[in-house]
Amino acid sequence: MEQFIMKGGTPLHGEVVIGGAKNAALGIIAGALLTDEDVIIENLPDVRDINVMLEALKEIGAVVERIDRHTAKISAVGVTSVSIDDEYIRKIRASYYFIGALLGKHHMADVPLPGGCAIGSRPIDQHIKGFRALGAKVEIRNGCVQAAASEGLHSSHIYLDVVSVGATINIMLAAVLAEGRTIIENVAKEPHIVDVANFLNSMGANIKGAGTDTIRIRGVRRLHGTTYAVIPDQIEAGTFMCAAAATRGDILIKNVIPKHLESITAKLLEMGNTVYEYDEAVRVVGAPVQHPTDVKTLPYPGFPTDMQPQMSVTLALADGTSVVTESIFENRFKYVDELARMGSNIKVEGNVSVIDGVKRFMGASVNALDLRAGAALVIAGLAADGITTVRDIVYIQRGYEHFEQKLQALGAQIELVDSEREAQKFRLKIG
Ligand code: EPZ
Repeated sequence: MEQFIMKGGTPLHGEVVIGGAKNAALGIIAGALLTDEDVIIENLPDVRDINVMLEALKEIGAVVERIDRHTAKISAVGVTSVSIDDEYIRKIRASYYFIGALLGKHHMADVPLPGGCAIGSRPIDQHIKGFRALGAKVEIRNGCVQAAASEGLHSSHIYLDVVSVGATINIMLAAVLAEGRTIIENVAKEPHIVDVANFLNSMGANIKGAGTDTIRIRGVRRLHGTTYAVIPDQIEAGTFMCAAAATRGDILIKNVIPKHLESITAKLLEMGNTVYEYDEAVRVVGAPVQHPTDVKTLPYPGFPTDMQPQMSVTLALADGTSVVTESIFENRFKYVDELARMGSNIKVEGNVSVIDGVKRFMGASVNALDLRAGAALVIAGLAADGITTVRDIVYIQRGYEHFEQKLQALGAQIELVDSEREAQKFRLKIG
């Protein structure tokens, strides 16, 4: 089983280039189903979840050409089925975007209930509420979501009971070809919501208000092809920002939109770190001694839940006590038990963790229990004294492209190994 092995204690220094936003690209890939013309998507992250989605498009008859690792050309005119199902698609969360897109274009969809990181119950009731409001019949049968709108879809005024990234994107995908004016209230405002809306508008959709609390969509008869570049990944960027702070390093993080990182920058500044902002880059210089601070995860523009584990690791090395409240998911502190093996001092009560900072972590063998927890444990291992191995890195590879190579370029002594013999060779090599 592949794992990362690393020797910590070296501050990370240098430059890293951020890839395309996974959580925007996933919605955009599904959105390519909404036109019969060619769609070229650029700046795709070359990560497992993206590749699973592209493979699924091929299975239903779309033509997918990988122009290069980060560019795909999709032609969905030949789609012959609205039923997607395979073992890989069942493992990822974003499979649900195929429901909205197939319903929007073909008025039918049969897609497995989504998988994804085990960070909470993660229902899709708000997605289904939106589809039904647009006129679709939706049933859950044999673990699949079966949706159909024999008379087509119509406009609606939808109020989301929960601010949901997935439901916001999914209802947009279904509504862009629905006759009339659809209004969706209490929507998510993340950068990736805006990116998917911009992508759809580049195909001729009429979407206004993405990034605000209310999205207004005027249905159009058809969408045309487009060439679209995905925005930089806010969470990959934030992960490297925390890596700089936690290892007391100095990293220039390139190809970012600093505005998307404001809540992360604010917290790192509160802790005493230095953050320089440029047009398309940020530079984080980790302070030798960092202050504690409190964090509450919130929908954008609040502090992102996907940055909670990485920030918590950074706080666990601060000089004092911090309180972290996870208000989005009900089970996103599982990594705390793994971090305890490295000497952290964190107590979790419900959706609140109390972090008593320690001077240093000691290397240990830990498990990546989900995507962002895995990334956080790698940061902890790079900050720790001694050797750390992080197992089950398939979770990390779902959302981080060449994570270990980018870290090696920053001076990290980290390798991807897939046997105890290779791990032993690493230990002998670093002495
Ligand atoms: C997306 O998940 C992201 N995944 C998650 O990133 C991210 O953590 C999350 O948004 C919040 O930003 C993808 O984009 C593929 P939600 P999603 O719907 O859409 C509840 C990562 O690390 N809810 O915004 O599943 C839900 O239970 C992943 O890249 C309902 O109750 O998140 C949660 O408590 C992890 N009913 C809250 O809303 C619904 O129908 C926010 O969920 C939908 C959601």
